[in-house]
Amino acid sequence: MAETMKGLKRTHRCGELSAANVGETVTVMGWVQKQRNKGGIIFVDLRDRAGILQVIFEESDCGSENFAKAEKLRSEFVIAVVGRVEKRAAAANENLATGEIEVRAGQLRILSEAETPPFPIEADSKTKEELRLKYRYLDLRRPNLQKNLMLRSRITTTIRQQMTEAGFLEIETPMLTKSTPEGARDYLVPSRVHPGNFYALPQSPQIFKQLLMCSGYDRYFQIARCFRDEDLRADRQPEFTQVDLEMSFVDVEEVIDATEKMVERVCREAIGLNITLPLPRMTWQEAMDRFGSDKPDTRFGMELVNVSETVKNCGFGVFTGALENGGSVRGINVKGQAQMPRKKIDALIEFAKGYGAKGLAYLSYMPDGSYKSSFAKFMTDEELEALVSAMGGEKGDLLLFAADKTALVYSVLGALRLEVAKQLEMIDNDKFNFLWITEFPLLEWSEEENRYVAMHHPFTMPMDEDLELLDTEPGRVRAKAYDIVLNGVELGGGSVRISRPEVQEKMFEVLGFTKEAAYERFGFLINAFKYGVPPHAGLAIGLDRFVMLLVKADNIREVIAFPKVKDASCLMSEAPNVVDEIQLKDLQIKLDLTQQDE
Ligand code: AMO
Ligand code: AMP
Repeated sequence: MAETMKGLKRTHRCGELSAANVGETVTVMGWVQKQRNKGGIIFVDLRDRAGILQVIFEESDCGSENFAKAEKLRSEFVIAVVGRVEKRAAAANENLATGEIEVRAGQLRILSEAETPPFPIEADSKTKEELRLKYRYLDLRRPNLQKNLMLRSRITTTIRQQMTEAGFLEIETPMLTKSTPEGARDYLVPSRVHPGNFYALPQSPQIFKQLLMCSGYDRYFQIARCFRDEDLRADRQPEFTQVDLEMSFVDVEEVIDATEKMVERVCREAIGLNITLPLPRMTWQEAMDRFGSDKPDTRFGMELVNVSETVKNCGFGVFTGALENGGSVRGINVKGQAQMPRKKIDALIEFAKGYGAKGLAYLSYMPDGSYKSSFAKFMTDEELEALVSAMGGEKGDLLLFAADKTALVYSVLGALRLEVAKQLEMIDNDKFNFLWITEFPLLEWSEEENRYVAMHHPFTMPMDEDLELLDTEPGRVRAKAYDIVLNGVELGGGSVRISRPEVQEKMFEVLGFTKEAAYERFGFLINAFKYGVPPHAGLAIGLDRFVMLLVKADNIREVIAFPKVKDASCLMSEAPNVVDEIQLKDLQIKLDLTQQDE
């Protein structure tokens, strides 16, 4: 039967005790990690979020009643112990922070008994994630998840301190709102009072933070929950958290500066990592040319090389054909891998095809100076030599080439570069490489919609020197948009916003929005701008991703208390779920599930 803690007050967390407390009488409370009965003496490992502590029960110290209770203890019982801290009689346990000491129990209370959990509560669990997520409240007892969530809390505290000290106001924006312009699918909430009408959960606070700028709150931040109904990946959740900020009377530099200071302080205070400011920067074009990606992982080399000039008159039709179609030929040099087995090369070719490549041409420059290649026979010795030299190829290197439309070549080689580096373990996991990507294209051509779409969102300001191109060559306009990248992951992004009505109108025009359509979606923002709008700019960092990278987790779920799985469901609460007929009736909603039945 469970006892109360009446008269007892916890004095320390288990993991907080050390040799400095020897001689003190303490009251600790927590979960039984393990009980070992050695006859006249019982050892209990007691766990709380600060760590594990060894407690010793001997009848001579605690009396027969307490000893009898200690004999009954099983894993995950919740107990309170009053006892004296002593130096360990046996050799210290170096695996425990509290390894030099133990608590000799005088009093024991069983606050809660526990059934045997469906899996053991251990740091490195071998339990399948599905089962862990079903019993997430047990999973969350595991020390490594507790460490992640405690760190996350410290990080949000640091962010609040830094932003507040830098003069930012923390302001909340609504959850029940209208569709925002981030481009994913919205989560909708039906209105009971306005039958047939829906709120959208915010994909970001974008419009509201811009309105706050119109209202004079010249530095805003929020640790904001955002919702996006999109396909989940390792670094995506349907609901996630942004560190969102917006500033007035600024341009690109001030936003980058404020963000860097926050990131630097978080790294220093949360994980003791010192990063040097200013962070490196690269234009979008350079990132694509060198890494085939707008979020390059710069922890290793193997950069892309454009060999279009070198091969333009060569005898290999795949290369010259791609060039004639306005594309390019680019390659990567996999150092020292000339002898990679054919099977592995074939697997890389298949990988490239998965990204839309028609093929992948390879050339192994063998240690004896000969070539093994899928295309060498189409080229003269001089052509081959020139190609190898353009690639910086040396004996022993493996050269891989893609020839196609340039955008496709970038994405194929960008992905291939990462894949090869992973396979060959070329990535130094101790590195934290931050990088700003600047000067993004303003627009992207959408084949699907047969029109330009905003690469960031429709309120992004073109670069001053490209403004005129908006009329003539919109595809070439660069934006005042920037992303911050960490180890090949897009950590955050933002932009300077359009605050001049004539530019905004032009932008809507290029995007193919009629005035009416623009008004219908963003009318309140467009109207607000009529009454005096300061130039403004901002950015949002994905907090979950940031924490994930700082703790070196390979999945965003490891830093979220109650995450969702791939199909956007919660295995523990079983959300989403059906609702009562009466709830639907209130909302005047009739279900038509015929599509699902098909
Ligand atoms: P953006 O859409 O780039 O910008 O989002 C900013 C950052 O949020 C994180 N993020 C996600 N994290 C987890 N799961 C998701 N599904 C998810 N989607 C995005 C990423 C991303 O870099 N309003 C603009 C910001 C601005 O312009 O100020 C915005 O939302 O780390
Ligand atoms: P093919 O002439 O199509 O048999 O191709 C000869 C070699 O070129 C094969 O190794 C193909 O994998 C490779 N290849 C084909 N298309 C491309 C391409 N677009 N880019 C690079 N290599 C290619």
